Amino acid sequence: PTPREAVRNAKLEDLDQNRENGHGQFLTSNQGLRVNDDQNSLKAGDRGPTLLEDFLFREKMTHFDHERIPERVVHARGVAAHGYFEAYDNNAPLTRAAFLQPGVKTPLFTRFSTVAGSRGSTDLARDVRGFAVKFYTEEGVFDLVGNNMPVFFIQDAIKFPDFVHAVKPEPHNEIPQAASAHDTFWDFISITPESMHMIMWVMSDRAIPRSLRMMEGFGVHTFRLIDAAGKSRFVKFHWKPLLGVHSVVWEEAQQISGKDPDFHRRDLWNCIEMGAYPEWELGVQVVEEEDEMKFDFDLLDPTKLIPEDLVPVQPLGKMVLNRNVDNYFAETEQVAFHLGHVVPGIDFSNDPLLQGRLFSYTDTQLKRLGGPNFHEIPINRSVAPIHNGQRDGHMRQAINKGQTSYSPNLLNDNFPKQATKAEGGFASYPERVEGHKVRARSKSFGDHYSQARLFWNSQTAAEQMHIVKALRFELGHVMQESVRSRMLILLAQVSDDLAARVAEGLGMPVPSAEGVQLNLNVGADTDPAPYQSGPA
Ligand code: HEM
Repeated sequence: PTPREAVRNAKLEDLDQNRENGHGQFLTSNQGLRVNDDQNSLKAGDRGPTLLEDFLFREKMTHFDHERIPERVVHARGVAAHGYFEAYDNNAPLTRAAFLQPGVKTPLFTRFSTVAGSRGSTDLARDVRGFAVKFYTEEGVFDLVGNNMPVFFIQDAIKFPDFVHAVKPEPHNEIPQAASAHDTFWDFISITPESMHMIMWVMSDRAIPRSLRMMEGFGVHTFRLIDAAGKSRFVKFHWKPLLGVHSVVWEEAQQISGKDPDFHRRDLWNCIEMGAYPEWELGVQVVEEEDEMKFDFDLLDPTKLIPEDLVPVQPLGKMVLNRNVDNYFAETEQVAFHLGHVVPGIDFSNDPLLQGRLFSYTDTQLKRLGGPNFHEIPINRSVAPIHNGQRDGHMRQAINKGQTSYSPNLLNDNFPKQATKAEGGFASYPERVEGHKVRARSKSFGDHYSQARLFWNSQTAAEQMHIVKALRFELGHVMQESVRSRMLILLAQVSDDLAARVAEGLGMPVPSAEGVQLNLNVGADTDPAPYQSGPA
């Protein structure tokens, strides 16, 4: 193989070390002992009690008793496939990242998910879809942990636990399982106007995709790409499906959920088995550093997108998914994505949602995957070699040699050496940062309705009707009238027409967009004025 093909095959070969196949083999215990009967426990006499001595029974049963691990706290239901990414040849590199240099091929693993439902919930729920890609690059793992919508519900990560508690089934009766149609969700949204742009997307056809192969993906946050000369540019990541974007309508979604809750995962599996490999183009919108402030929204605000007619998407390369997993648990369930898995040439912005996510993923995976060594699980293992002073912990696989595991030390020269930038060492972009410590939302994050309105106005008449019907359905399931009327007030900030049509369906008075004062939870010492809903 050429060096490039070698990289592409590297992950396949790496996984081979852990593949097991019982075909034609003897049954054994976990210690390699051949077993002559695993269907009858060891008893004292034909009709007697089972003996404590039965180590084969105990091993089999104990392993079963411990089979389950916690499901993801969000994005619990998912499906994944292997594939590769190939950077286009004509790319003038915006980044020094090796996997984005012209023509380079990189193995990857992509997991799609719904957000709210549990592991067993239906694929066709009205929900955001996760779109997470793990690139096994020669410089280490890069994860692009995105969604199928370009914006998010909240602007600051500290609100995420509240948001998810509102989204998940209500705590007293665990209803509803996987839909947003409930009081706690809409109560939270009705006093969180920053969510209105995302709500427009979630009530649109985008939230009920026809197939995972027909969804866009977005990095959501603004990131940085750093080129070989050290120049930084702001970027937004986009995945564009080569099959185009397609959805079902709500009536179809409900019927499919009843007849085949595995509709999306079955579709992805079958297409890959049949050789109809789904493909996406990766692209970026690029904003030069000096243009950071030229927009009428803040690039750091994750409830805003950069309209593509202002900044077009430049293609960087193509992803192909061409191999199903061998084992759902080992691969799809144990994969651990994290925004903080970056490679030289890719860096972060100060988006306060992004910054908080950088903490959350490893933290949750320490619990979900049982300790600090989950990077050694085959699906998470980097194809670039790993050498550092980290040691021990539950389920450690590496057998680190040598007397010492600290640096500096003069006892031996065993310790790995630090890499300069030229040698591929990651050095954070030296952004200049200064300011007062404040616990407050930036005033530049204050416009919650313009882009929600932009989205509404971008929709065709049929698509607008779907949004109206979705809101009637969702809010029609909300018991508390106060929640419904607060939502109508917020919708009126987006569009009078939208609010009137939803109100009509709910049999409620048409709200006015004029200066309604809402009791918004913006922090006790924060001046609430800019965030109160006022005239549109
Ligand atoms: C999964 C936290 C926002 C995309 C998760 C998980 C946590 C989490 C704890 C479970 C991870 C695991 O168990 O392995 C957060 C926090 C957020 C946030 C604290 C905001 C403050 C977002 C946003 C996106 C996103 C804005 C999209 C851009 C995903 C995806 C997964 C995920 C795709 C599933 C990954 C997989 O397939 O395993 N998130 N999240 N999250 N999150 Fe977020």
